[in-house]
Amino acid sequence: MQTLIINIKELLQTRETSVLKVSGSEMAILPTITNAFLLLENDTIADFGPMDECPKLDADKIVDASGRIVLPTWCDSHTHIVYAGNREQEFVDRINGLTYEEIANRGGGILNSAKKLNETSEDEIYEQSKKRLEEVISKGTGAVEIKSGYGLTVEGELKMLRVIKKLAANYPVTIKSTFLGAHAFPLAYKENHAAYIDLIINEMLPKIAEEKLADYIDAFLETGYFSVTETERIMEAGKKYGLRAKIHVNQFTTINGISACVKHNALSVDHLEIVTEEDIEVLKNSETIAVALPSCSYFISIPYTPARKMLEAGLPLALASDFNPGTTPSGNMNFVVATACIKMKMTPEEAINAATINGAYAMGLSATHGSITIGKKANLIITKPLNSFYEIPYCFASNLIEQVIIDGKKFA
Ligand code: NIG
Ligand code: FE
Repeated sequence: MQTLIINIKELLQTRETSVLKVSGSEMAILPTITNAFLLLENDTIADFGPMDECPKLDADKIVDASGRIVLPTWCDSHTHIVYAGNREQEFVDRINGLTYEEIANRGGGILNSAKKLNETSEDEIYEQSKKRLEEVISKGTGAVEIKSGYGLTVEGELKMLRVIKKLAANYPVTIKSTFLGAHAFPLAYKENHAAYIDLIINEMLPKIAEEKLADYIDAFLETGYFSVTETERIMEAGKKYGLRAKIHVNQFTTINGISACVKHNALSVDHLEIVTEEDIEVLKNSETIAVALPSCSYFISIPYTPARKMLEAGLPLALASDFNPGTTPSGNMNFVVATACIKMKMTPEEAINAATINGAYAMGLSATHGSITIGKKANLIITKPLNSFYEIPYCFASNLIEQVIIDGKKFA
């Protein structure tokens, strides 16, 4: 099946040869072709270029994209889409003056979601989660990482990971699964952290590996959650099962976590609302990418990741949604890109690079996703008629998407 998209006003993120990621000043350059064509062969990008080089062929389907922008779908490398119920009461509690930390200390937060998750059946969790997945795909996400971490029991964590596996089997988007047993200490282990980490390492990980339920391992490295030493134990254990680390770190405080993650060759360090000069130094010359989550900063009113400082230091940066019931009940990547521009002073070019090719890198998917490159997945956003692609972040609350194409087919 051949689909030929013609008269594209501007085709974004066109790369003849694929790159793994873009860093520092390279992020300001977003390669594009104006008045372009794009040829899809089944689920793969087969050709692209300026309209005057458009091949004369009898394609099965021709789409006229006059006035429209076409870009690769968003690569959302950090989400917690699988959860049970909601936490809207905590939202109101925060409006009334409580902080995220105070709510967590009262038994709310992650433990609140864990209670709900463990009380809900796998089928029901699947039903709730698939609606969120469908929503994010319709808003332009074509590859997504989903974490466990609201089970915090052997059964609960396995249940979440099985739901992720089922979503991956039933939906055309690419899903990467991350085991986040080290998200918080259950109350029963409050005074005995080592015993919970033993449970993760000796009970959860072997079962997860046996059922091939995870691609990556995560921990919440933060004051009051998992210490550097505890997170190092988790990263080492994950490595034995081939699970590379993607770590929540520097959300509220900095406790030298980033250097531990780099030492263990983590694929990504996520959040980084608080970043020191030392953190930036250790990230240089590493293969670890920083992932910023601006809609989390927006929703719980915490600082934004200092993107400018990091790009000026030559670092790569990815953007992701962090979709979860506590700190970011939204997986809208258009909003993420807009907020990165508005609040983190990233240019539209930088933000789009961060949410496509660099997001792909943060999930180990650069070879197949994140750019318009021959041989990559035919995953595309076709916008409504626009003046320019700057309107994508400029109209920050509008849905400017006309069609989302996943694997060469329109996602209904
Ligand atoms: O990425 N910071 C840790 N984990 C999530 C929030 C978890 C929750 O509050 O449910 C985050 O923000
Ligand atoms: Fe998160």
